Amino acid sequence: MSTVQSGERHVGVVGLAVMGENLALNIERNGFAPAVYNRTAARTEEFLAKRAMGTDILGTFTIEEFVGALERPRRILLMVKAGPPVDAVIAELAPYLEPGDILIDGGNSLFTDTERRSHEVADKGFHFIGMGVSGGEEGALWGPSLMPGGPNEAWVELEPMLTAIAAKSASGPCVTHIGPGGSGHYVKMIHNGIEYGDMQLIAETYDVMRRSLGMTAAEIGEVFDRWNEGKLESFLVEITGKVLKYVDPLTEEPLVNVIADQAAQKGTGRWTSQNSYELGTPIPVIDAAVIARSLSSFKSRRLEASKVIKGPGSEGMPFPPTPDKQQLIDALENALYVAKITSYAQGMALLATASETYNWDLDLSEIARIWTGGCIIRAELLNPIMQAFKTNPQLANLMLAPYFVEQVNSGSPQLREVIHTAIGFGIPSSAMNAAISYIDTYRQPLLPANLIQGLRDYFGAHTYERTDREGIFHTEWMQVGV
Ligand code: 6PG
Repeated sequence: MSTVQSGERHVGVVGLAVMGENLALNIERNGFAPAVYNRTAARTEEFLAKRAMGTDILGTFTIEEFVGALERPRRILLMVKAGPPVDAVIAELAPYLEPGDILIDGGNSLFTDTERRSHEVADKGFHFIGMGVSGGEEGALWGPSLMPGGPNEAWVELEPMLTAIAAKSASGPCVTHIGPGGSGHYVKMIHNGIEYGDMQLIAETYDVMRRSLGMTAAEIGEVFDRWNEGKLESFLVEITGKVLKYVDPLTEEPLVNVIADQAAQKGTGRWTSQNSYELGTPIPVIDAAVIARSLSSFKSRRLEASKVIKGPGSEGMPFPPTPDKQQLIDALENALYVAKITSYAQGMALLATASETYNWDLDLSEIARIWTGGCIIRAELLNPIMQAFKTNPQLANLMLAPYFVEQVNSGSPQLREVIHTAIGFGIPSSAMNAAISYIDTYRQPLLPANLIQGLRDYFGAHTYERTDREGIFHTEWMQVGV
């Protein structure tokens, strides 16, 4: 069924994997008539015959037919795999496009690729929007969080449709014009880095309950369900409860107990860490999460090492006494909250640096706002984050906003307690450790970097500054006999 004529379709969607299909259905449900195209015609036919049946979605089978079906300026959403396929589709479309047409890349593209494509496409007179789309398959269908970056004139053309299809939270539609160039994909990259941090912190919390308290998956699931009613309320905490309580029909065991302990990654977390090194704004909790996933993949090496390297629980090294259950669970709730705060503080600090470095003029409050609904990291915590940057857009670090000062001060003793328990039981807790070290480093008027400077000057005459007088100094350490 097609009520809007071919040649007048409001938007085109290229790529009918599940995200492309779901966005096309979402767009149609919200009153915009899409035309769709997929490289393999059978996929388009199947979509039209099944999920798109009875909707106003027009299937097309050649690029020419697809482009010809769209009203002008053409709005074309690319939902293809990040990387070379994006360039390939742009090259296929380009001969049929006209100046003013808009290409939107809705994949998880690397922001530097988006910058490059923006220039290449602009040279031909087209607009390019790099749009982060978060919320997984359900989000794409029922309301994702959208992070579009690119020229303002293209955003103005897209705003009504993107506003209609985005998730709605108490603070409004979860979409905003992020800024120019690759800024939309950059913000999505940071979102994913934070997603990695959140998941690693949740996994460590689960591990402490499992191994130091001997709790079952279902029991731990109940704890996460309870936490989801308090300040930890978030999509990831909610689905942690569900995943932990799910029983495998094959074994009648909790499914999580038979899932291999090797975490995969597609690269967005690693990109976040790489960029933070480049910009010199550390994100240690996110780094720890990326590293933990990589280490988890060394399964056979871990098994080998477990036979020879000893720790708590090995022969002659008994575990500490079992902690008080309720006290540790309460401590874990606050520890997870404070650790999450440091992780978001790191992500937001990196956004601030990127905004300055790349001249993007990012609105951090608005970014936190569009993450309050639809996306994977949506959480109650994003409301005070949004407020903090609204009150003070120049906030140097989220932890310094009055609400967060209070939370860090009241919760960090429990974060220490949890880490102490984890170390006592030999439970890896690198993200929790990174969180407390970040707090301890950030609040420290005096760090041991003086010694680093002394060492650098000793072996390489790298010079140092002094605390008691102005200037740059070098010491002939060896000549003075040290
Ligand atoms: C989202 C997710 C989504 C994707 C992750 C998975 O916001 O909807 O972030 O984009 O599921 O990128 O990434 P990994 O495979 O690297 O965990």
